[in-house]
Amino acid sequence: MVDYRGALVLAPMVRAGELPTRLLALRHGADLVWGPEIIDKKIVTCDRIENQKLGTVDYLSHGYTKVPGVTNLVFRTHPKLEAGKLIFQMGTANADVAVQAANMIIDDVDGIDINAGCPKHFSIHAGMGAALLKTPDLLCSILTNLVEKVGKPKGKPISVKIRLLHKEEDTLNLVERLVNTGISNLTLHCRTQEMRNREAPIRVSVDKVKKICVDHGVNFIINGALTGRKEFEELQEVYGKDMGGMIAENAERNPSVFSLTPLDWAPLIKEYIEIAESMCNYIGNSKYMLTKMIPGKSIFYQYIARSKSYDDLREAMKKLNDDGTEKKQEEIEVTKDDEKDAEEETNDKKRKTDDIQPEEIKRQQTGAITA
Ligand SMILES: Cc1cc2nc3c(=O)[nH]c(=O)nc-3n(C[C@H](O)[C@H](O)[C@H](O)COP(=O)(O)O)c2cc1C
Repeated sequence: MVDYRGALVLAPMVRAGELPTRLLALRHGADLVWGPEIIDKKIVTCDRIENQKLGTVDYLSHGYTKVPGVTNLVFRTHPKLEAGKLIFQMGTANADVAVQAANMIIDDVDGIDINAGCPKHFSIHAGMGAALLKTPDLLCSILTNLVEKVGKPKGKPISVKIRLLHKEEDTLNLVERLVNTGISNLTLHCRTQEMRNREAPIRVSVDKVKKICVDHGVNFIINGALTGRKEFEELQEVYGKDMGGMIAENAERNPSVFSLTPLDWAPLIKEYIEIAESMCNYIGNSKYMLTKMIPGKSIFYQYIARSKSYDDLREAMKKLNDDGTEKKQEEIEVTKDDEKDAEEETNDKKRKTDDIQPEEIKRQQTGAITA
């Protein structure tokens, strides 16, 4: 069972929250990771494929027109690397479709979260996201149905992510209703629907919201402008060690902010590329993430923006020093020579192995002792 208590987690982020970002965040201390919001109606059009080559489980959409150059991969998880840590976030405005979609996905994830905070037109015009804050009966019915029909039978938690309402009293009344649906966690994005991320979050109601949650045995996670582990621990001193924290934009810029010692951007992007390539992440998505992580003024921003493949990205990385500066041509030549030496050494070893008789190779591989 997922342990939300005091957890510092990666926020749900469309585009940014794909598998490589989640794996990088987990590697650097994220306690849990939320996937990007996916709409219930989309999930139900998907085929579930076990990708033996990558060790992943892939959900591929067949019900949507395939746009050339756009992947039909809707969701990918690595069950081994994300085990016990992955929360799937769903967009929905219908309890029946939500249950149908949740039942399709639940065995591959550790919990399901309902997005009741997204202010984008795309979400609210369909009654999803922040629109659910104005239809609390519907929101409660979605959560209750998910708890009763998916969460309880499968032993997995259901949670919700909301925003502040304009009046504190309205926020508290809504929270009071939500914690009675059987959910395990409530995340509060401490901004109203109209507020943009550049505006400072409003934390005046946090104590009260948290108390309602705790009194009902529901975990509470705070969200909004958190910078990293250090600041989160300071906030826990104020609001209690059992409070969780969720980071979005700062984790998009640097998915290692969950560590007390986050990486600088140069070693960070090298790790990201290594993970993204190993998971065959869509190159357009990897480039999007890399341009978020690299300072705009760096020449590497342009190198990455111009890259068309993982080969191009790897070539660019050969020029990158860990302090973010560009290697001089001679240094690159030296590196190339080193690589050649290493390759020759490997070939020598291989040749020596090839000289060994087949019986001897078999004996070495199987460990069999021959008389
Ligand atoms: C690129 C991006 C994508 C986002 N996508 C989602 C999403 O899919 N679901 C959601 O509930 N919130 C989404 N959000 C909102 C964040 O989860 C978070 O609530 C918000 O950014 C405030 O946190 P922050 O101040 O740490 O950035 C997104 C934010 C960003 C920056």
